[in-house]
Amino acid sequence: MQSVLIVGNVTKDVYLRLDNRSNNFETDQNGVKWLDFGFNGSHHKYFSRISIYGGASISLEVLSRFGLNASISGTPATFLDGQFIAKDVHTTYRYILCQDNNTSQLGPSEPTYTTWDIPTNNPDWIYLDSSAIISPKLATSILDFLNLSRSTKLALFVGKSANQNASHIRELIERADIVISDIMLEQKRDFVHISGSHIEYMGRRVFWSLDDKKDLMTRLTARLTISASILGALILGKDPSEALLLARANVQNSKLSSTSNLSTLERDIADDYYRVENANKKENNMSEIEETAAKLMAPGKGILAADESGGSIHKKFESMNIPDDEQHRRDYRNIFFTTPDLEKYVSGVILFDETARQTADNGKTFIEYLADRGVISGIKVDQGLVNFDDSDEKWTQGLEGLPERLAEYYQMGARFAKWRAAFEVTDHSPSQMAIQKNCEILADYARDCQAANIVPIVEPELVYDGDYTIERNIEYTGKILDCLFAELKKKNINLAGCLLKVNMVLAGKRQEKQSTPAEVGRATAQVLREHVPRELAGVVFLSGGQSVTQATENLQEVTNNGPFPWTVTFSYARALQDPALKAWQGNNDNADAARGAFRERLIANADALKAK
Ligand code: 13P
Repeated sequence: MQSVLIVGNVTKDVYLRLDNRSNNFETDQNGVKWLDFGFNGSHHKYFSRISIYGGASISLEVLSRFGLNASISGTPATFLDGQFIAKDVHTTYRYILCQDNNTSQLGPSEPTYTTWDIPTNNPDWIYLDSSAIISPKLATSILDFLNLSRSTKLALFVGKSANQNASHIRELIERADIVISDIMLEQKRDFVHISGSHIEYMGRRVFWSLDDKKDLMTRLTARLTISASILGALILGKDPSEALLLARANVQNSKLSSTSNLSTLERDIADDYYRVENANKKENNMSEIEETAAKLMAPGKGILAADESGGSIHKKFESMNIPDDEQHRRDYRNIFFTTPDLEKYVSGVILFDETARQTADNGKTFIEYLADRGVISGIKVDQGLVNFDDSDEKWTQGLEGLPERLAEYYQMGARFAKWRAAFEVTDHSPSQMAIQKNCEILADYARDCQAANIVPIVEPELVYDGDYTIERNIEYTGKILDCLFAELKKKNINLAGCLLKVNMVLAGKRQEKQSTPAEVGRATAQVLREHVPRELAGVVFLSGGQSVTQATENLQEVTNNGPFPWTVTFSYARALQDPALKAWQGNNDNADAARGAFRERLIANADALKAK
């Protein structure tokens, strides 16, 4: 068991709730609330008094509940069987006076210097938490000890009150293995940053809030809880994403200064984060579209996009001298649908109108044939891109008559649909106007789909073919997703019956500095976490012109940055089909080779859904 020696001050926080019939607070012209305590012989009454341990005792509790061997330097306190035991512990009293939602604090007039006793057993970690008052003397004593005990690691909270430029603080930061702060630190690149709205570490970010919590004690101890949870998780070898999720769960679940055991938190996160489990819980009252969406997001499977429009397939065939007639188009699609084990790797296939009306070798429609194999059919229902007046930007058409078409597709057996909006990146695009208009249309389409019991896939695509940096992609994809989900909300779209199909976040194809898979994984995970609501049924990626191997490698890195609140998987056209097209060459004698090439891509991409 790893040991952590906490350096900090135990406080006794006394919460006095003042009688709220008389107004004890006054507001000055700057809006600052002052507590009127007029020491003129008048007396104030409180109607409730709660006293709890705060400061270093919170760190002790959190780390102990994470199963670590934690103690506080120079302080004979322990956390045992859910209890903080504080015999003979020196505490500083803080009075927190509250009336309604206003508080004021009374602390000791002299700062309480933090105790440090040279440990007799070398701890694995020393942790200076936010309750520590770090004097130059304390810093020197600790640094001296660390010089002797080289294997002991250091974790440090640098708060607003510590001057990050003071030389003793700089030395501690320099030596520290983990630094946590609620301010921006100039000296350190990778520190755990706790802001009022999010916690960020190593490029991962989670949002936190105590909005629905009126519990004052939790608010005042939130940073202590978050810091100790992250530290505990990292010491236990959790990856940064999981550490952030555990910290958020711990602070959001905490009550009256009492935090949770690691096992409870892990269960909570699993409950929250694996949609499949949620889907099981809701099994009995799921609507048809929610059920279809959950089936499409079956773990370990993706969706094949075989829905190239007439124009796109024409270009593909032409480039390989394959005759572009209905028979060849049918035979081409037939290769994918008849590939052995298709149903092991894909839950659904997106079709183009023509294909949805064609028949398999056994005389059944392709939709029926796929259904027999346990694969759900979807249908592309947008009718392509047209230019806005006086602009080189585009919007997607096809809303006219959509409800009637959807009703027919449902009759034919299709259970989901797809609509693509495309945004090219140039020096003047995508514009807010184009983003707004396309997102409104996507929301109209989604509403029509759900009215027809069809799951909409909303697909805003930032086109890969362009000369732009990954930072611009982060910005634009985020902006587009924010706009899209705002429009879906306005139109009351049931997100549990809706899927997002989106580009991965990477530098444009014509950009000199191409993104590495590690960068793509990190940036994509970050953008999704920040801009996709957790109620959504799932996220699927288009390949967008990435090479076949690039699409798989990048998917693997996205997976490695999980887990996510939604299932995340592939829905490629080119990156799944191109090797098969090359093998087939329009000649059915090559059909088996083509099936083999397709199957290879299916296996590789399904494998990339497993974190490595
Ligand atoms: P790509 O994977 O070839 O980008 O196609 C996916 C798709 O459905 C585009 O709309």
